[in-house]
Amino acid sequence: MKMECSVVHTENRLEDMYNKLINQDDNELSTEDHSPHSHPPTRLKSIIGPSVQTYRVTAMILGVLCAILIATIIALCVRYNGLSEKHVVLSQNSSETHSNLQQLQDRYDSITATLMKVQKNFQEAVSAKDQMQRERDREKQTKDLVMREKEVLMKEETKLLARITELGKNCERCPVGWELQNTTCYLFSVADSDQRLSWSQSREECRKSGADLVVIDSQEKQEFVSRTMKRIGTGSRYWHITGYWIGLRDVHTEGVWKWLNGTELTRGFWLDGEPNDQYSTEDCAATYPKDNLLKTWNDAPCGYNLKWICEKNVREN
Ligand code: BGC
Ligand code: CA
Repeated sequence: MKMECSVVHTENRLEDMYNKLINQDDNELSTEDHSPHSHPPTRLKSIIGPSVQTYRVTAMILGVLCAILIATIIALCVRYNGLSEKHVVLSQNSSETHSNLQQLQDRYDSITATLMKVQKNFQEAVSAKDQMQRERDREKQTKDLVMREKEVLMKEETKLLARITELGKNCERCPVGWELQNTTCYLFSVADSDQRLSWSQSREECRKSGADLVVIDSQEKQEFVSRTMKRIGTGSRYWHITGYWIGLRDVHTEGVWKWLNGTELTRGFWLDGEPNDQYSTEDCAATYPKDNLLKTWNDAPCGYNLKWICEKNVREN
């Protein structure tokens, strides 16, 4: 607009100059044309005509350029406004995105904390499970031990029940404290008593009860006597005083063993190396609690103090 005004101003000035020149020409060249309103003379026109045209063209071009400039500015303004709106929208979006990101970060932190707790709980649960497993193993071992002990006790109970039955039967047929085997009652002088006697004194004790020292003339009797001795116990840690006198001697002829009824021994259940008649002093036989039920006899001096076994027939009812 400013440029347009300047052009108009310049045009006015040129008009003024033109008028002055016309007037001058009129004064100087009055012969050619005296009318104040006639057109400038051809010479003057030829001098100033092209300059005005140029100005006008230039002014027009400038005007067009100004219009283009204004249109461009307007277009840019419109474009700028559009971009500003987009910028605002993008800023809002960016803000929302930032907010969402922050929320996600918070949730991530929360989930991480929860995960840590869950891991801790899991570790505690695993430890508790291991502890329970160890306790369960211990309980199982204890249970197995108790079961084994129970089995032992049950076997013991079975034996005791059998023994009770046996004792019940014996009560009627043998004196109290005597053992019944087939048709014979046996008395074992008890292991936990300190009472021990010589062979002759032992026999005397048996006779007082209407019995005599035992005659072991069969394997069945030997096994019965051995099992009973083991059940009663040894009564001492010195094996040579754990023996029980039996009714067998070789007092008349050394090496010829005879039972109380005078019958000669046919099968002996001697310990290995016995009878050895140690120091030529051993003429009486005794039986001892041993693991091998068929090797339990030894010859010992008849004056030794040992325990004894009596036998007598069952009572006749
Ligand atoms: C011997 C026996 C003997 C016993 C006497 C043992 O050491 O081996 O043969 O009869 O002593 O107590
Ligand atoms: Ca001996």
